[in-house]
Amino acid sequence: MKERTLAILKPDCVQKRLTGKVIDHLLNKDFEIVCMKMTHLTPQTAGEFYAVHKGRPFYEELVKFMTESPVIVLALQKENAVANLREVIGNTDPAEAAEGTIRKLYAESKGRNIIHASDSPENARIEISFFFSNKELIENGYFK
Ligand code: RTP
Ligand code: MG
Repeated sequence: MKERTLAILKPDCVQKRLTGKVIDHLLNKDFEIVCMKMTHLTPQTAGEFYAVHKGRPFYEELVKFMTESPVIVLALQKENAVANLREVIGNTDPAEAAEGTIRKLYAESKGRNIIHASDSPENARIEISFFFSNKELIENGYFK
């Protein structure tokens, strides 16, 4: 079975009207969308989602940023989806990101970097269930 991962198109992506371009980029890399929604994170939900970073110097700023405006959350599916999506988005800091990656193409800084992606298969499962119920996730592939 194909692996699943979670992506979030962050507030800067929404504010800059880049969501269409980024989703198109993901589709061109053969990711299948198994569920997608727009939602506005609260300080509580953003804080809980990034709880692993609590206490780090950028945590408060990160929570503030993630609640600035709505985000688009996507559960994605592909062979080796977790590692592959990390490759496709590029380094956290766009200045360090490889050519052609989403962050290199669109991100303005290490903080405001357009897209989140799960960093391990275990976290992908946790993060997908943070946003979606099993009933909502499309079971089978549909690409022609
Ligand atoms: P993400 O979780 O959003 O996919 O990003 P990542 O794995 O590439 O990076 P991570 O270390 O998990 O950091 C989470 C997010 O926190 C913000 N950040 N700002 N100013 C800074 O030094 C700094 N460091 C991290 C970024 O928005 C980063 O994506
Ligand atoms: Mg991370």
